[in-house]
Amino acid sequence: MHYSDTTSATLTHIFYHLALDPGQVSKLREEIASHVDSGDITHQKIQRLDHLNGFINETLRLHPPVPTAMARLTPPEGITIGETHIPGNMTVWCPPYAMSRSKFRLSCRRPTRKTNYTM
Ligand code: HEM
Repeated sequence: MHYSDTTSATLTHIFYHLALDPGQVSKLREEIASHVDSGDITHQKIQRLDHLNGFINETLRLHPPVPTAMARLTPPEGITIGETHIPGNMTVWCPPYAMSRSKFRLSCRRPTRKTNYTM
């Protein structure tokens, strides 16, 4: 099923990268501890942790659980993205695996990205 397959694959790759770089475990623990009091670790308490989010995003960049497909149909009048015009009724594919490992790194070089953590 989509929900559990994507999440379990992502968790597996997160633990793989933590095993490769154990220093990250203490760094992530420190960041989480600084935002969590004695109560439960809730989604609200940890949703804005830059390093944790960077680690998850970087794992998803290297190991996107949906590595390809995600086809979309262009509108009948076509569409212009940047300087490229794509005619209407064309099927366009955005393969995350290739895009995020490309030297252009389209998906992860956003100016709004809060961490430059890369594996
Ligand atoms: C790391 C975890 C996950 C990843 C990488 C992931 C990835 C994706 C991707 C790439 C799509 C878009 C597919 C497309 O439009 O062609 C999608 C759609 C969707 N995902 Fe996930 N997903 C994850 C976890 C989950 C979970 C946990 C749920 C629900 C509990 C969920 C619910 C959905 C739903 C409902 C859609 C369809 C949305 C729509 O039709 O607009 N996903 N997911």
